[in-house]
Amino acid sequence: MNDTPIFLRACKREPTEYTPVWLMRQAGRFLKEYRSLRRQHSFLTLCKTPELATQVTLLPIEKLNVDAAIIFADILLPLEPMGIDLEFTKGEGPVIHNPPRSRAEVGKLKTIEAEEDLAFVMEAITLVYRQLTGRIPLIGFSGAPFTLASYLLEGGSTKDFIKTKSLMYEDPSCWHLLMEKLSEAIISYLNAQVRAGAEALQVFDSWAGTLSPKDYEEFVLPHSQRVFRALPTKIPAIHFATGTSGILDLMHEAGGDILGIDWRIDLGKAWQRLGYNIGIQGNLDPTALLGPPERIESKVEEILHSAEGRPGHIFNLGHGVLPQTPEENVITMVEAVHRLSRDR
Ligand code: CP3
Repeated sequence: MNDTPIFLRACKREPTEYTPVWLMRQAGRFLKEYRSLRRQHSFLTLCKTPELATQVTLLPIEKLNVDAAIIFADILLPLEPMGIDLEFTKGEGPVIHNPPRSRAEVGKLKTIEAEEDLAFVMEAITLVYRQLTGRIPLIGFSGAPFTLASYLLEGGSTKDFIKTKSLMYEDPSCWHLLMEKLSEAIISYLNAQVRAGAEALQVFDSWAGTLSPKDYEEFVLPHSQRVFRALPTKIPAIHFATGTSGILDLMHEAGGDILGIDWRIDLGKAWQRLGYNIGIQGNLDPTALLGPPERIESKVEEILHSAEGRPGHIFNLGHGVLPQTPEENVITMVEAVHRLSRDR
């Protein structure tokens, strides 16, 4: 018997009895209990109260039978101690009230000490870690420099990334200064999470696929690479983005033990392109979970088939679970991943 949880073995590309699975945003709005907690507390209160964040992190664990927990927090939290005024509004998502608009303002962004400045996240991690008692591992996470820069500069979510790309093109030195500052905060944040009990890390560069390969290489890669190189080598790191067909090899070069991909690319083909000295995570379209159980099963089977049972596949969605997803469909998916991968 091997005591190491199956998720961590898969991260090391060791063979496992079945394919481990977890879902991005598994601790969130598709869960009834989460929605009911949200009627009593704001999103930031949930994040900043370790007992509540612990409760939310654990909500999906028994219910869904997933192979990893992810700490309930947000990629935007480290921006607050850097001096950013962050709000989560109803309907609109995150709003940043004071995006930096000059080199002087970028220069004024503060350096953080994550252990103190984000102590509530570390406390939640320690509490969750204790309650999981080694059954399944806990994933810590952060945004990657580019995705954080995009929220910071746009003042919230965006479709076109105009302010972000404009800064890159118009004032590359200011861009690189901003990316350096964000990278330092991320490095502090992720290392503190590992000290608190995180056993794996995911770096979300959700919107990196919006860049041309050349721009990724010049404006993003060196910073993401610096982040990955500053992480503890013993802890597996997942490097996730969407729309990555054009930058797959560059993301590999930037770092991570496992690359997270979305459904716009065939998982088997992506893996073949990358080579098998890296793991792969993905890649069911979250919308598939709105369909009937037979469709969910056949889509799970397609992905497992594409992964060919190779060690190092972690099953996940290609992006976060949609708020309108029926809970029983997620249970169907997890059960199908376990059963169909065991049978292979
Ligand atoms: O995966 C998990 O369940 C753990 C918790 C988690 C949240 N956000 C909680 C959350 C994680 C891993 C994130 C990551 C995150 N946050 C990303 C990267 C993943 C991705 O979706 O691309 C990004 C870009 C953010 C920023 C963010 N936070 C946005 C754009 C929004 C609003 C819109 C949305 O997608 O929900 C949030 C709010 C947020 N973060 C919620 C949750 C549960 C919803 C808050 C609510 O209850 O209203």
